[in-house]
Amino acid sequence: MREVVLARPGDFAEWRDAARALLAGGVRPEDVSWRTADEGASLFGDAAPAAPTTSVTLPRELVAMTNRVICHRDAAVSARLYRIVWRALRDRQLLARRTDPDIDWLSKAEKAIRRDIHKMHAFVRFRRLGEEAGRESFAAWFEPDHRILRLTAPFFQRRFYGMDWAIVTPDARAIWTDEKLIYGPGGTKGEVPDSDVVEDQWRTYYGAIFNPARVKIAAMRAEMPKKHWKNLPEAQDIAPLLAGAAARVERMRETAVSLANPQTDKWRTRVPETLALTDEIETLDELARAVGGCTRCTLHCHATQAVVGEGPSAARIMLVGEQPGDREDLEGRPFVGPAGQVLGEALAEAGLDRTSLFLTNAVKHFKYEPRGKRRLHQNPTTGEIDICRWWLDKERALVQPDLIVTLGGSALRGVTGKSMGVMSMRGVVHELAGGTKLVATIHPSFLLRLPDRARAAEERAAFVADLALARKLAA
Ligand code: URA
Repeated sequence: MREVVLARPGDFAEWRDAARALLAGGVRPEDVSWRTADEGASLFGDAAPAAPTTSVTLPRELVAMTNRVICHRDAAVSARLYRIVWRALRDRQLLARRTDPDIDWLSKAEKAIRRDIHKMHAFVRFRRLGEEAGRESFAAWFEPDHRILRLTAPFFQRRFYGMDWAIVTPDARAIWTDEKLIYGPGGTKGEVPDSDVVEDQWRTYYGAIFNPARVKIAAMRAEMPKKHWKNLPEAQDIAPLLAGAAARVERMRETAVSLANPQTDKWRTRVPETLALTDEIETLDELARAVGGCTRCTLHCHATQAVVGEGPSAARIMLVGEQPGDREDLEGRPFVGPAGQVLGEALAEAGLDRTSLFLTNAVKHFKYEPRGKRRLHQNPTTGEIDICRWWLDKERALVQPDLIVTLGGSALRGVTGKSMGVMSMRGVVHELAGGTKLVATIHPSFLLRLPDRARAAEERAAFVADLALARKLAA
C-alpha cells in the first residue's frame, strides 16, 4: 500500500503532483491511501510520492473539474479524484457516462463547489481596518462550506484591485497587498472587526435594490443561507423590509407607468423607429401566405407549417410567445396547446378577453428534437430569433398595438433585438421606439415545469398580476 500525505488539503498543485507520480508509476487506486498531514500518524509509515516522471494527458474538462473539486470537504476527495483520473486515462468517454457512480459524485461535488463560490462572491463583506499612505485596508471573515478560497480570491483581486484587503476563513486566508495575492493560514472571526462605516453603505444598498415584487422567502433562504446572515450587515433589515413588501408591491403596480428604467435608453435605439413594410405585404392574410413560404432559416425543413399571429388586426395588446409547440405546429394556430391553456386561464383571471388580443410568436416554425414518437421542444437560438424578427416586425407594423407583452426570454429578444433577463425587466413598464409600451413577463410553460405547488401558485399569481398590469395600461 502506498501512502500519500498531503500537507495542504484542497491544494490542487500538491494533489496533482502526487497523482501524476502515482499514475506514472502505474499505482492502482486501490493500492493508495491518501491522508492529510493533520489526520494523525500513519499506520503504514510515511511514503512521500516520488517526483513526477512522465507527463499524463487528461481531458481538459476533467482537469478543470478536478481543480475545483479538490476543494470539496469530502474526506475521501483525493482518493476519489485519483480513481477518476486513473479510469479516465483508460476510458476516454468516462466523463460522458453520467450514471457512473464516480462521475455522478464528481458532477454533484462540482455543483456544490460552484454554488459555494457563488455564495462567497455574493456574501463576503469587508470591514475597514484603516488607511496607510493613502491606501485603505479592509478585512472580511467568511466561512465557506468548502476550501474554496483559492478559487474565489482572484475575483476579489479583480474587483477590489485598488485597496489592500484580507479575507480570513477557518482554513486559510488570502491577502492582497502591494498588488500581490498571497495565502496564509486560517484564522478566527475575532481577527476581523465586527462593524464599520461600510456596513451602513451595505444596508442602504440592500434597501435600495430590495424589490418587494420579487420577494420569495423560500428562494431567498436558499440563495442567502441563514448561516451567512450573522456576517451580513444588511441581514438585520430583511425582516422589516419583508413586513412592508406587500404594501410596496401595491404601490409599485399603481405607479408602474411612470417608473423609469435605466436600461430602456440603452436598447431603445436598437429598435427601428418605424417598422418598415418594404414589400407588397399590406395585410395579415398576405403576411400569413408569405410566412408559409419562408425559408430564411432551416427551421422550416422539419416543421409541419409556419404559425403566424392570430387576433384582430386592430388589437391594442399584442402577446408575443416563443415559438409554436407541437399542437400549434399541427393545427397552425398559436397557443392552442398546454401552454396556451395556462395562458388562457391567466388572461381570464387578469380580466383580459383573449379574443381581443393579437397572439403571436417570436419564431414562426416549431423547433424540436425527435425522441421516439414524440417531438421535444427545443429553444430557438438567438440567430433563429433574430432572423424571424423580420416577420414579427411586420406583424407589429400591421397591427400597431399600443402595448406588447413578451412571454419569456425568446419573446423579449424577438421584440427588442437584445438578450435581457426577463426578471430584471419585470414589474416595470418599458417603452419601445415609436412609443409602444412593453411589459415583460414569464412564459406560461415555465409554470407547467414547476414541480413545487406552492412555488407554482406564487409564480402564477405574479404572472396574472403582470397581465393585469398590461390590461390597466392599455385601458
Ligand atoms: N408556446 C409559445 O411560445 N407559443 C405558442 O404558440 C405555443 C406555446
